[in-house]
Order: sequence, then structure tokens, then C-alpha cells
Amino acid sequence: MNKDFRKSTVYQIYPKSFCDTNKDGLGDLRGVIQKLDYIKELGVDYIWLTPFFVSPQNDNGYDVEDYYNIDPRYGTMEDVEELIAEGEKRGIGFMFDMVFNHVSTRHEWFRKAMEGNPYYKDFFIFRKGKGGGVPPTNWESKFGGNAWEYVEKFDEYYLHLFDVTQADLNWENENLRKEIQKILKFWMEKGVRGFRFDVINLISKACYEDDETGDGRKYYTDGPKIHQYLKEMHDATFGTDPGIVTVGEMSSTTMENCFQYAGRDTGELSMVFSFHHLKVDFMGNEKWVLVPADFQKLKNIIFDWQTKMAEHNAWNAVFWCNHDQPRVVSRFGDEEKCWKESAKMLGTIIHCLRGTPYVYQGEEIGMTNTDFTDISQFRDVESLNHYQILQDKGLSASDALRIIQAHSRDNGRTPMQWDDSKYAGFAAEDSAEPWIAVNGNHTKINAADQLKDEDSIFRYYQKLIAMRKEMDVIAYGDIEPLAPKDPCVFAYRRTYEGHELIVAANFYGREYTWKGAPDVDGYDRVIGNYKDAVSAEHGVMHLRPYEAAVWYK
Ligand code: GLC
Ligand code: CA
Repeated sequence: MNKDFRKSTVYQIYPKSFCDTNKDGLGDLRGVIQKLDYIKELGVDYIWLTPFFVSPQNDNGYDVEDYYNIDPRYGTMEDVEELIAEGEKRGIGFMFDMVFNHVSTRHEWFRKAMEGNPYYKDFFIFRKGKGGGVPPTNWESKFGGNAWEYVEKFDEYYLHLFDVTQADLNWENENLRKEIQKILKFWMEKGVRGFRFDVINLISKACYEDDETGDGRKYYTDGPKIHQYLKEMHDATFGTDPGIVTVGEMSSTTMENCFQYAGRDTGELSMVFSFHHLKVDFMGNEKWVLVPADFQKLKNIIFDWQTKMAEHNAWNAVFWCNHDQPRVVSRFGDEEKCWKESAKMLGTIIHCLRGTPYVYQGEEIGMTNTDFTDISQFRDVESLNHYQILQDKGLSASDALRIIQAHSRDNGRTPMQWDDSKYAGFAAEDSAEPWIAVNGNHTKINAADQLKDEDSIFRYYQKLIAMRKEMDVIAYGDIEPLAPKDPCVFAYRRTYEGHELIVAANFYGREYTWKGAPDVDGYDRVIGNYKDAVSAEHGVMHLRPYEAAVWYK
């Protein structure tokens, strides 16, 4: 099964929240098998599954204890084999999620390191403190607090850029790199068709010094040996099979580095996730604030990446949602008044861009942020840590909660809404309670209803996904931003071998007259989120709230 990733769409599954078949309240791999026909119907080519390897689950599986075995909460190796085979029958390839910046402190390597075994100790980053209880550097953990943990026995600290139970790996060590190659080969032999690499641009640390102006990220992001490590991994493993698709999650990266990471002939990865466009409702890098989204900035960033990655023959993953992000319809759309229109509008923008689109479970039915009203309903370690940190900074509990509600990763982690039953069909009604509460709006927003409705968000996504396959201009065309400074309109033109596509979207909930719009006379309207056509004449378009449409010639 070899596919052209430029014509493909990827569906992301967070198994813990997808479908629970054995009634323990946790989603499982058999749940994914059960829903393969649904995913097939959507028309995607690949499924990216977030980690289901043995793990204490402090970061829901991103703290891997054993890469060669399946966490029994998710299922068994037989289930994985069946899943891959069932996917193949349906023309769907699996991309597995590889977490190689760190492992769980319960991983055998770390346990041996803690026993003082020097071979394994060098798989990690242990350093002396500065004396008097001061850690080696002032770097901050991404989940809050200092990034070093003291180990009395060695009078040393180990580095953890994430949770204290996620110890960073020392990529300088060749034996460690060989172990990583072994893991990839193991899964390739099982028939996996792709990999997603977790925070992979953090694996090469430049040095271990205090960062007087920040949190340390400049010393470990896109570090000095990152390209060397990626090329080595590519050549030794997935590079030998041109059918394997890879995507690197690039934290706070630069575009120049991404030209390399995802260049057509650079021998690193097929494509990259970057996140700058999802920080437009942050204050700089600070996520735990409430500020309105900056639309101009959003457009600037997306267009900048689109055009420059194209100039450098490099490939983007394009997306709004994943398991770390709030739901896009709540974030940039209007889940109350124009739920359906805004969800479709946002889908239109992403799916006609140059790049490989990713759909995160539930996005295709317009799932919204959680309706949680109490901190006890949240589960994510990052949210819980920051709830405390915000209050330590002097915020009231209710202000801290409002920030968590808007930005928590749990917004993307509530159970998939399959139907309107008690647990939304994620679990049977007589199952254990889901590990995280179902959103009460599942009675209105669920897959069963949308499959019956030709006008649903699901049907619209299905069409967008099919369009990329049918129209080379979407998969291969150049991109030209239109009206980049317009305060309401998100629009662009794609061109390829004499074919042309025009995409126009009103990003807001008020009617808007776009003067200077391209003349679409003589073009076919191929999709739109209102039944009748946009009113457009001689370069003036009257766009209704969140209206989006696409024309082809
Ligand atoms: C990535 C994952 C996130 C995880 C982190 C640490 O950002 O997407 O869920 O917590 O890496 O592994
Ligand atoms: Ca289960």
C-alpha cells in the first residue's frame, strides 16, 4: 500500500478517548477496530494513533515504559496486528507515535540508570547542581516548574523537559540511537506505514547553561545535531522504504529548519507540524492567559509558511486540532450561534491548503470544548499543574479556572461523541464511567445523527477529503494569498498546470462585503457551507456569517 502523501488525509485517534469495548471506561484498540468502517467512510488514507505502549499513563502514554509491548489497558499485540490488517483491507495505513525525546522513569533503561549502571546512565542527562539545592540550569519544564529533578543517591539531577516522570534521553549516545532504530524497525516489520515523532526537534541539546532571557528553549530547540540525527535515523530505518510517511512534531521551531526537516530531497522527514499559527491567542509564548485571537497574525503565519515552504520544496502538515489543542470550532468559530457554518468554514480553509491535512477525532462532527465547571473534572497533568501555578501567581481560583477552561488540552480529550446515549456511545450504558466526562452536548453533536444528514459537518469533511484526491490543483498547486490584509476574509488562490482554485472564507459571524474579490464568473463552485451560491459580481462578494466557498476553473 503505497500512497502519495500529498493527496492523502490523516485521521488522528487518541485511543483513550475514542471507543471503549471492554467497559472499563478507557478507550481501547478494539474500539478502533470497531470504528474502522466509519473512518473509511470519511475517506482518509492514514490513521495516526497516539501512543498505546506500556506506560504508567502520567502523560496518557507519552511516558513510554516499553516500546515493544502494548499497555494492557489498550489491548494486546494481537489487537495491534489485527488492527493493522483490518486497516490494510480498507486501504488505511497506520502511523504510530514515537516518543523519543524522553521515556518514562519506569522504563528499564531509566531503572538501570538509577541502579547506577553507567551504560544506561549515559542514556539520560544527569548533571551536577550548582550547589545549595540549585539545579544545573534555570530551564522550565513545559508542564511547569524547574526541568531538573534531584537524585540524592548520585547528588545529581536528571533533565525532564516535560513531567518529572518523563526523563529526557541523551541522543549524543550512539547506543541509545541504535536502540531507537531497533524500535522503528520492529514496528516497520509489523506493517506500520508511517510514524509521527513526538517533539522530535528537542532531542539535540546545545549546552546546559542558564537562560537569562527565557525558559531554556533556545538551548534545546532545533539543536546543533538535530539534522544529523534525523538523517541517520532516516537512512537506517524508514528511509529504506519509500512508502513510509513521517511527520515530526516541531516545538517552537523555525521555518529555516523546517525546510530541512521536510524538504523533498533532504532525507529527513516527509512533513512537519509547526504550531505558530496556534499561538495567536497566546501572549507571546505564554499560553495561560485569556486574549482574543489575532486574525491578522493567523493569516500572516499561515501564508508565510505556505508560500515559503513551497519555495523551498518542503511539505507542511496542515491542521487546527490535535490532542493538545482546544477544539477549533470553540476557538476560532462560534459554537453557539453558527456552529455548523463556522466548523465547515474552518475545515474549508485547512483542506484546500498546500500540505497534508490532519483531522482530529471529533473535528469531523464539530465537537466543541468541554463543558467542565470544576477543576476536579480535568485530568491533564499540564492543566492541573498550571491551575496551581496561576494561583501561586496571585490569580483567584475562578480566574485560573477560566483560563484552564479555554486552553486545557482536555478540551480535545473528552470522549468521542458517537451517539446521544448516556456515554455518547463511547462506552455502553452499563460500562464503568468514562475516565473523563462526556460533553453534555453529545445529544446534539454526534456521529450517528450526522451520518444520516447530507448537510452535516461530517458529510462536508468527506467531500473536502475527496476533493484533494480528485483535484491535482489542491494536492500539487502553488498558493497565492488573496487579500492578506483584509480584516475579515481568509482567501487564497491555488494554481496548477492551467487549473485554478479560489478559496474564500468570512472568518467572522457578521455579514461582510469583500471589495476587490477575484471575479469568479465562469468558475464552478465546487463546495460551500451555504446551500445557495455566494453573491458575487465584478469583484464584490457579499459573504454571510462564516461563509466559505471554493471555485474551480
Ligand atoms: C507532545 C505531545 C503531548 C505530550 C508531549 C510530551 O507535545 O503531543 O501530548 O504531552 O509531547 O511527550
Ligand atoms: Ca476499555
